[in-house]
Amino acid sequence: MPPATSSAALRRVRGEGDTETIRPEAPNDPRIVWRAAFRAVRAETERRAAPLRPEDQMVQSMPDASPTKWHRAHTTWFLEQFLLLPRLAGYRVFDQRFAYLFNSYYVAAGPRHARPSRGLITRPDCDEVAAFRAHVDEAVERLIAGASDAELAEVVRILEIGLNHEQQHQELLLTDILHAFAQSPVAPAYRADWQAPPAPPAAGAFADLPGGIHTIGFHDQGYCFDNEGPAHQVLLQGARIARGLVTNAQWLEFMADGGYATPSLWLSDGWGTLEAEGWEAPGYWRDVDGVWFALTLGGLKPVDPDAPVAHVSYYEADAFARWVGKHLPTEAEWEVAARLNLIDDAFGQVWQWTRSAYLPYPGYRAADGALGEYNGKFMINQMVLRGSSHATPSGHARASYRNFFYPPARWQFSGLRLLDYV
Ligand SMILES: [Fe+2]
Repeated sequence: MPPATSSAALRRVRGEGDTETIRPEAPNDPRIVWRAAFRAVRAETERRAAPLRPEDQMVQSMPDASPTKWHRAHTTWFLEQFLLLPRLAGYRVFDQRFAYLFNSYYVAAGPRHARPSRGLITRPDCDEVAAFRAHVDEAVERLIAGASDAELAEVVRILEIGLNHEQQHQELLLTDILHAFAQSPVAPAYRADWQAPPAPPAAGAFADLPGGIHTIGFHDQGYCFDNEGPAHQVLLQGARIARGLVTNAQWLEFMADGGYATPSLWLSDGWGTLEAEGWEAPGYWRDVDGVWFALTLGGLKPVDPDAPVAHVSYYEADAFARWVGKHLPTEAEWEVAARLNLIDDAFGQVWQWTRSAYLPYPGYRAADGALGEYNGKFMINQMVLRGSSHATPSGHARASYRNFFYPPARWQFSGLRLLDYV
């Protein structure tokens, strides 16, 4: 991973909605570039947390979702644990107890608090977490400024992981609070002025996806997570891939045709989940006097028929594809189509389920040490989603990006596009 010193690197980590103009005093000085990138990412987390009151910030509505306060602290612990402790001489740990509270799943980094119980942690409170963030921010900037040229490459390597990690939590911060608000009868709005991205133009067209040998996996410029490589060849059948995403209008047709009441459309595990959970519509949909509404970050809104369907599980996406007589793309088909610019709205609307299991690419090996636990140990029982959502920080995703969740999960902004074979 090359130490990035370009303005492209800076743009990559600048947060959504960050309108600050960053003017490095010396554009070629990586210390200035990385300090600005660091500040932008850290500020974006706080910007996303700002509309939430302390009571909001500590709620945990299910084991998979974490409190906002925890996200703010965990991303800070990550920098303290993996960057400051090994790299900044004389660094003073902010609070020795925080490693236990805010380590997520890094077994090699020590014992940790039980994930389902994160919402029981009232202390540290939000003010103490803010002080933790400020303490680490100051130390990281001191590390960047004081690192020798020889040290800087390794500092930047870890820092870049830390910033991309924090961006992932920025998305989770929103999806997790939306899940929490969805449990409330009064349906709070994260931000009353929040707007969904403009619905894409209706796109029923399919594009020809050429069969043959293609290369997928990261072979581009910039940053990637380890699970995006090695780049490798795949053999595709000729196919036709939907240029657009499946919309709410299409989903309403599926529902009206008994999609949620027809076992033959469903995988066995999916039908079992449907029955256990009582699914009859996408996540966060509410029938209000015969009209479907959905809880969004802007509160309860009528379902927009033109918007891409969101908050559907893999099981639902698979059932829909079966109902319409088509398929979900594999992740290789999706990536080749994205690289060939065959699809619209690949990014920025909803993540798109693929029918690919989340597996290591040929030759993949996780790194040694605790950071090797980042992706590799989750390569079992999950499915890959591609693209990005409107909650993904600007510039965070790319054609090779692999998101992954368990098949029943639907608290992410997850939708689908279709594919058929020729
Ligand atoms: Fe994390």
